[in-house]
Amino acid sequence: MEDGGARIRRRVSVRKRNRGSLESRCVALAPAELQPAEDLEDEAVAGSRRRKTGSPEPTQESDSEEDMFSGYDSFTENSFLAQVDDLEQKYLQPHEHRELAADSATKGLCSESTKNTVSVSTVSCFTDSETNKLVKSQASGLDVPAGPEPENDLLLDVPSSQILYFERMQNSSSGLGDQSTKDRDGNSRQSSHEELTCSHKEQSQQSDGFSKAAASPETNRRKSIADRLKSAMSGNATAQTPVFSRSKQLKETLLSEEISVAKEAMESPSDDRGPFYSLPSKVRDLYVQLKGIKKLYDWQHTCLTLSSVQKRKNLIYSLPTSGGKTLVAEILMLQELLCRQKDVLMILPYVAIVQEKISSLSSFGIELGFFVEEYAGSKGRFPPTKRREKKSLYIATIEKGHSLVNALIETGRISMLGLVVVDELHMIGEGSRGAILEMTLAKVLYTSKTTQIIGMSATLNNVKDLQEFLKAEYYTSQFRPVELKEYLKVNDTIYEVDSRAENGMAFSRLLNYKYSDALRKMDPDHLVALVTEVIPNYSCLVFCPSKKSCENVAEMLCKFLSKDYLNHRGEEKSEVIKSLRAVGNGKVCPVLKRTVPFGVAYHHSGLTSDERRLLEEAYSTGILCLFTCTSTLAAGVNLPARRVILRAPYVAREFLRRNQYKQMVGRAGRAGIDTVGESILILQEKDKQQVLELINGPLENCYSHLIEEFSKGIQSLFLSLIGLKIATSLGDIYQFMNGTFFGVQQKILLKEKSLWEITVDSLSYLTEKGLLQKESHGDTELECRFRVTKLGQASFKGAIDLAYCDTLYRDLKKGLEGLVLESLLHLVYLTTPYDLVAQTEPDWMVYFRQFSQLSPAEQNVAALLGVSESFIGKKASGQAIRKKVDKNIVNRLYLSFVLYSLLKETNVWSVSEKFNMPRGHVQNLLTGAASFSSCVLHFCEELEEFWVYKALLVELTKKLTYCVKAELIPLMEVTGVLEGRAKQLYSAGYKSVTHLANASPEVLVRTIDHLSRRQAKQIVSSAKMLLHEKAEALQEEVEELLRLPPDLPGLGGPNTEEA
Ligand SMILES: Nc1ncnc2c1ncn2[C@@H]1O[C@H](COP(=O)(O)OP(=O)(O)OP(=O)(O)O)[C@@H](O)[C@H]1O
Ligand SMILES: [Mg+2]
Repeated sequence: MEDGGARIRRRVSVRKRNRGSLESRCVALAPAELQPAEDLEDEAVAGSRRRKTGSPEPTQESDSEEDMFSGYDSFTENSFLAQVDDLEQKYLQPHEHRELAADSATKGLCSESTKNTVSVSTVSCFTDSETNKLVKSQASGLDVPAGPEPENDLLLDVPSSQILYFERMQNSSSGLGDQSTKDRDGNSRQSSHEELTCSHKEQSQQSDGFSKAAASPETNRRKSIADRLKSAMSGNATAQTPVFSRSKQLKETLLSEEISVAKEAMESPSDDRGPFYSLPSKVRDLYVQLKGIKKLYDWQHTCLTLSSVQKRKNLIYSLPTSGGKTLVAEILMLQELLCRQKDVLMILPYVAIVQEKISSLSSFGIELGFFVEEYAGSKGRFPPTKRREKKSLYIATIEKGHSLVNALIETGRISMLGLVVVDELHMIGEGSRGAILEMTLAKVLYTSKTTQIIGMSATLNNVKDLQEFLKAEYYTSQFRPVELKEYLKVNDTIYEVDSRAENGMAFSRLLNYKYSDALRKMDPDHLVALVTEVIPNYSCLVFCPSKKSCENVAEMLCKFLSKDYLNHRGEEKSEVIKSLRAVGNGKVCPVLKRTVPFGVAYHHSGLTSDERRLLEEAYSTGILCLFTCTSTLAAGVNLPARRVILRAPYVAREFLRRNQYKQMVGRAGRAGIDTVGESILILQEKDKQQVLELINGPLENCYSHLIEEFSKGIQSLFLSLIGLKIATSLGDIYQFMNGTFFGVQQKILLKEKSLWEITVDSLSYLTEKGLLQKESHGDTELECRFRVTKLGQASFKGAIDLAYCDTLYRDLKKGLEGLVLESLLHLVYLTTPYDLVAQTEPDWMVYFRQFSQLSPAEQNVAALLGVSESFIGKKASGQAIRKKVDKNIVNRLYLSFVLYSLLKETNVWSVSEKFNMPRGHVQNLLTGAASFSSCVLHFCEELEEFWVYKALLVELTKKLTYCVKAELIPLMEVTGVLEGRAKQLYSAGYKSVTHLANASPEVLVRTIDHLSRRQAKQIVSSAKMLLHEKAEALQEEVEELLRLPPDLPGLGGPNTEEA
């Protein structure tokens, strides 16, 4: 084992030298990914401020607060496997009790009510209003039965589900194998009804399956190769503690046996022989251990056992916030990965949510033998690495998911994608991101008939359209594990939202809080009264319409909170301030410095990612008890709140939409965190009518944005359809369009032109623009074919917004004439994202000061671009300028100055001060530039004339992606390790992914300041996964190198025949 570990470590270091880590980052990124919804929402209010600072918003980030890793201890002394051992030993009973224990343990995890196992194979729309009642009436989760102390017997160190396997193995060796086959055949005739009760019978079936798997030496041999890596990893991690013996190896072998049984079960859907929804029992154990989920909710069980789901039909399901939708998707994903041996793509709305999922699913991947790969921000490999045996779970943002699907189609591997899961499906109706999501799904539908699509959401209305688009079944239920009470506050009266009452609201109580005159003036909405009813013992979220108002409200509250609040977890709060100082290079935001001691903080995109991570952690552990936040925090984030207050029925200047309202109030009362939840929407008399309509009205419909988002929608869709050869003739393209969400809604959305006309017009437009060329005219119009030009190919490969592709080409071409390479400034200018330029309004004084400090070579860059010092000087002194100067170039150069300073100083805070730009915005500009630089690189790769840029941009992308000292880069490759943490880890001696993968979370907690146990565990498991992936990629490379080329002359291939 140690040898294996050492071998892998060596290989990884070789890989680092040879390939570097950039490869994985040089991917087609879409800058849109970096634009959180908040950008749009806060546009109006923050517009003037943004214009002033001329900066984009930072990437949306958020973290789940659930303690998914409680009791998880990695692979070392108190290792995870050791805990699994403990658990399994608890399951174990003396021989005569074994069967009983196995039976009841399984029952507890599958929802036990057989009555609820509805069979609805012919129904396409399901509702489950009874679920709530049923769940309430369910007995509490069945605890793992306590067993005797483990015996010193190897067999007692395996899961109960596998004990029978051993017996069967023994039996089969004494000639009982045939019998087991007969049993299996007999059982396959059982109704799925019986099987889903996960009864004792099922256990026997399973054991029969095992016998068969055990009887296949070929399968075993293959599995054991696949498992070697895992064993090596385990060896690495357990180097200090040679505790793991044969029992662990045995368990791993057993797991792969169980997986092959489950795989078989999946192939015959009615024969569910896996102990946990066709999955190995280990999955169930992992849910108990890692997520504390002991029993499925009834609706989850019902949904998982729908006959349509078992037949792998596409599915949309919709439940209220916090209803537990994720678990169903995860089980289906695991079935696909483990049983059907196909890759899975999970699409989530924001980078931070992707990262959170990576952290939480990495340990499942390590334990169950599949890869968890991150496709977010600048991470992800295109095309994805081909895995030899294990399957991959790609977790991606909307934009990266799209690029991934493109890459799979291009390389002819789309059919390997067994399942696509889309969380927050309603986002399909939201701007350009919605258009990209629609394109992704439409492409999957069109190119792979075997890929299943599953979409979930809490806020869907016009489901029929979506069903038609995805050809999906629909399941819905009103279940919410924690009751949510919604209130409205008008003046000092609180009303309860009550659909039975007249107007939809009923008087609840009067606010009874004595306000001084000063307080009334400062806090006319009684926020102090409302929050002090819950904090500090419970947590509270106050949603504000804009970022500025978040900061103001936080400060106002702290001004009036009693000094007693300072004492509540005072020491921990001062630790938070210290940590903020550490990640801020010695600086703390003055607002946070004042509010954190009271347990209050603002949370919006102006924070750096390090700050946000820290504050979220402090909030989720109760050190902070109140966040004032913008609506983006509502997007699927699992932050606990007993009470959610909506400061006003507005998001920026727009009146609140029902979907937004539902998402925001849905943060209150999360399962496993709160027992009750309540929301209070504060409104003025004047808004009452509109609010009542909002409260009582239906959720908004979602509509396709494919046409509305012209250059990012239909145009780029056509380019990629033709570029990827998905559809190249007018007829096929038209047919494709009919199958889109837009195609389904064309009657509603199209007013002046028909879909046919739009298709023809768009193709002509792209042809005129030089992105497409008519290849052949065909006999009929329908048959005329198109192909992409070089420029078209470059634009689509680089995921360049077609609105900018001409400009980019021109700028790069001009750059070739006199590229200044004495500094990075010129290159940085060429990769500064265009879409951020329009919002930029330079601070001319700062601009002038920066300009004067440039070296002659750098000033030469400005001169080449046509921006002179005198122009900027005149602007700074407010003088009139007669000469016409291109505003876009001037503003873009300003943003390049910011980026250039960042690259030189690698300090967001000092650059933020220098340019008078919020630190979060500086950071977002950097992320946007890293993305765009990678896009430009891909653009250049397709155009010979730009060959010189290729090498230059590889390095620049790397610099922009990390913008930290080189030694921190390897650590920051690990999901969840940001700059501040990387610095701490580095100075504590953890210098590589290998160090982190082999670290003990306990030691990390002891040696790294302000690192919680949960974070330590997540870092270790993410590092393990990354290392695992790298090792596998190397192994693959070796095999590829040693493989006999199939076209080797003399091998009897086509070449030989020709000869
Ligand atoms: N069967 C279960 N038993 C206990 N807890 C559960 C169960 N299923 C899910 N949970 C927990 O409930 C919480 C909310 O679940 P989840 O995040 O899946 O909600 P959701 O339906 O996706 O809500 P949203 O629409 O807000 O994203 C999570 O902490 C999850 O671990
Ligand atoms: Mg969710």
